[in-house]
Amino acid sequence: MTEAILLVGGKGTRLRPLTVHTPKPMVPAAGVPFLTHQLARARAAGVEHIVLATSYLAEVFEPYFGDGSALGLHLEYVTEQEPLGTGGAIRNVAPRLHSAPDDPVLIFNGDILTGLDIAALVGTHRTSGADVSLHLTRVEDPRAFGLVPTDDTGRVTAFLEKPQTPEEIVTDQINAGAYVFNRSVIDTIPAGRPVSVERETFPGLLADGAHLQGMVDSTYWLDLGTPQAFVRGSADLVLGRAPSPAVPGRCGDRLILETAEVATDAKLTGGTVVGPRTVIGAGAEIDGSAVLDGAVIAPGARIRDSLIGAGAHIGARTVLDGAVIGDGARIGPDNELRDGIRIWCDADIPAGAVRFSSDQ
Ligand code: GTP
Repeated sequence: MTEAILLVGGKGTRLRPLTVHTPKPMVPAAGVPFLTHQLARARAAGVEHIVLATSYLAEVFEPYFGDGSALGLHLEYVTEQEPLGTGGAIRNVAPRLHSAPDDPVLIFNGDILTGLDIAALVGTHRTSGADVSLHLTRVEDPRAFGLVPTDDTGRVTAFLEKPQTPEEIVTDQINAGAYVFNRSVIDTIPAGRPVSVERETFPGLLADGAHLQGMVDSTYWLDLGTPQAFVRGSADLVLGRAPSPAVPGRCGDRLILETAEVATDAKLTGGTVVGPRTVIGAGAEIDGSAVLDGAVIAPGARIRDSLIGAGAHIGARTVLDGAVIGDGARIGPDNELRDGIRIWCDADIPAGAVRFSSDQ
């Protein structure tokens, strides 16, 4: 049985302030910590033993997931004293693996939502005889990603980090953050110092003549590293566009967690999730958004594509569009917050203080 490593130690700086109190994989998406979806998908693909490589806010994972038996998994946790980067984290957990040198080991970034056929990636790895296999996905604008061109047999020919000029954009295939490594390759990563698997390990292996195989899989794929992507991913899970066995309820236009209090005339649409102990006031309209535990939305608020942190208060008639509200923040009535604005945890915005349009 293939075992897996999950990389969950990043600081998640692009997702701040959501990651001030909570590591990125523990931020709720569709009602449960995002990591739950990844664990459940790995289990559904037959993976039983998973080692979590933790660093930032490492102490919160084990109390929540325990030994993993509730998900049918055997989970172990390894914490880096100093962050070791993606490659260093993989090397650091190697002593916990049971695999023999030639066995395949799955490795997942902890912030990717995807319908990847995990068994097919392992199958490609076995039939191609590669040392390392990578899930690749195609994107329209590859500038923010690492490009991975392949030859006509799928063998990787180069790794190009964050290309900028048109000449550098030689392919639309990018590293999608899921790999199969032969166990023996993991043991060659230097121990005890930071290593980037993307910038050091992969190019180094290629230069040494190793066989790296790409598998382009064009199912659902989203990097949840930014607030807008995180909100999109949560809504897609609720809508059933992104597959996960761990959505706590039936997929549809909305997901209302037990103990949420929703006014009968509130309108929740577009994959909106309202978490436990939330209160949604009369006439509120919430579309494509995530309202986390204990947040309060006052009557008549209109919210779209936004993330409302745990315990935050949104005042009456306030409009949010593409906004991120940190845990415990209080937004007074009659504000208008748009376009990627981030309100920090526990901030206090008075009534009618912020507008993006005239008040008429
Ligand atoms: P940003 O700060 O917003 O870029 O996010 P990040 O810190 O999560 O970095 P990035 O998205 O590049 O990380 C990819 C994956 O590797 C994520 O699942 C991270 O949790 C994980 N990761 C990144 N750095 C480390 C590290 O030093 N140790 C461990 N264990 N995991 C890491």
